[in-house]
Amino acid sequence: MATAIFVRDIAQYDGQEVTVRGWVKAKTGKGKLQFVRLRDGTGQVQCVAFKKEMDEADFEAIRGLTQESSVIITGNVRADERAPGYPGGYEIGVTGVEVVQVGDEYPITPKEHGTEYLMDRRHLWLRSDRQWAILRIRATIIKAMRDWLDNNGFLLVDTPIITPAAGEETTTLFELDYFGEPAYLAQTGQLYNEANIFAFGRVYCFGPTFRAEKSKTRRHLIEFWMLEPEIAYCDLDELMDVEEQLVSYIVAQVLAKHQQELEIIERDTVQLANIAAPFPRITYDEAIERLQKLADETDDPEQKELLKIEWGEDFGSPHETALAEMFNRPVFVYHYPSAVKAFYMQPVAGRDEVCRSVDLLAPEGYGEIIGGSERIFDADLLRQKLQAQGLPEENYDWYLQLRQFGSVPHAGFGIGIERTVAWICGLDHIRETIPYARLLNRKYP
Ligand code: 4AD
Ligand code: MG
Repeated sequence: MATAIFVRDIAQYDGQEVTVRGWVKAKTGKGKLQFVRLRDGTGQVQCVAFKKEMDEADFEAIRGLTQESSVIITGNVRADERAPGYPGGYEIGVTGVEVVQVGDEYPITPKEHGTEYLMDRRHLWLRSDRQWAILRIRATIIKAMRDWLDNNGFLLVDTPIITPAAGEETTTLFELDYFGEPAYLAQTGQLYNEANIFAFGRVYCFGPTFRAEKSKTRRHLIEFWMLEPEIAYCDLDELMDVEEQLVSYIVAQVLAKHQQELEIIERDTVQLANIAAPFPRITYDEAIERLQKLADETDDPEQKELLKIEWGEDFGSPHETALAEMFNRPVFVYHYPSAVKAFYMQPVAGRDEVCRSVDLLAPEGYGEIIGGSERIFDADLLRQKLQAQGLPEENYDWYLQLRQFGSVPHAGFGIGIERTVAWICGLDHIRETIPYARLLNRKYP
C-alpha cells in the first residue's frame, strides 16, 4: 500500500510510491501521455501518466477526467526542478488511479470571467489559485494577530453578537426581533471588552461584526471580522506602540510564510518588506494642513477638488490615500474632531473639540485599517455624551457602572481583518478578502 500524503509534504517522499487525493485542476496531453495537474487543498502537483506504465483501464480513466473531477492517484514521486506546482520541483509518475467522480462541465475555466459571474459562483471560485492564496494569507494574518496578543499578556474574552444597544453610530445598526423586543447585531465588541479589562487587565475579542453600510465602496463589507484589544491603564501613545508592534509582526509573518502565495497573487513585496515599527504619528491638525498644502500645490483640477477638506471634516478615501502616500509605511493620525468620532472617546484636556482617538492608515492607497481611542472614564461625562448623541441611557446602564467601581483610564482599538488582508495582498476590492462576502447588493451564496 502506497502512503497517503498531502501535496505540501511531497519533498519528503522523493523516490517513494504515494497516494494523493484531490481534484483535477487541468489535464493536457495526447495519445500515450497525459498530464494531470492535481490539487489537494494543500498544494498542486503534476501527475504524469504514461500508457505503458499502468493498466489499460486506469489509463482510459485518466483520459476521461474533466476539470474538477475528484480522483485518488497513486504513483512514484520524482524530483524535477522544472516540475510546476505548489510547492513544485516534484512530479508523480502515475501507476494507478481511482476516479471518485467525473465532474460535469465546470463553469469556471482558465479564460477571463466577469466579477459578478465569479461572485455568483463563489462556492466554486474558492478553488482557484488566486483565491486559495488569498485565503491562506488571511488565515495566517488572523493567527499572527492572535499569537502576538497571546504572547503579550492579552487574554481572549469573547463578546456577544446579539446586543441590546449600539456600539458605534446608530445609522448602521442591524435590528433583530428578540422575542418581541429590539436587539442588534454587534457592530463592535468594544463595550464588553471595556467591562472585561476590569477582570483581566488586557483582553481582546475576535469575531464577526455587522454594519448596515448603505455605501457601496471597495472597502466596506456588511459583515466583517474585527480583532479588538482593550487595555486598562493605557494612553494613546502606548496604544500606538501596541498597534505598530502588532501590525509589523503580522506583515513579517506573512512574508516569512507565504512567498509562494504572494507570488501567485503577484504582490509586489518590496513595499511590505519596509513595514517595521515605529510608524510616523501625526495629528489630525497636521494632516489637514498637509492635505490643504497638497491641494494648493497640485495642478490637476480634478485632484484638487478631491483633496479639498476643511478642519472638522472626516477624511474620505482620497484624503487617506494622499496621507498614506506621504509615508512609505502605515501612518497614525490622532486627535480627530470629536464630532466625527464615536460617543465613548475621551476629549483632549483643554480642547474639547478633539478627542484622544487614533486611526492607522495603510500605505498604497488602502487607508484606515485600525480605529482606536482612549475611552471616557468619568461617568458624568459619559452620560453627557450619550445624551448628546440621543442614545437611551437605560440601555447603557451596565456600561456606565464600569465608571463607578474602580474606573481607570483605558484604551483600545479594532483592526479590520478584511482591510488588512486587502492591503497586505494588494487587492483592488475587499470582496476577495473573505470567503463569502456580504455586500450591499449581495448575500448569495
Ligand atoms: O473604526 P471602527 O468603526 O472602530 C470600532 O468599531 C471600534 N469600536 C474599535 C475599537 O476601538 N475596539 O472600526 C474598526 C476597523 C476599521 O478601521 C476597519 O478596518 C474595520 O474595522 N471596518 C470595516 N471593515 C470592513 N467593512 C466595514 N464596513 C468596516 N467598518 C469598519
Ligand atoms: Mg473608524
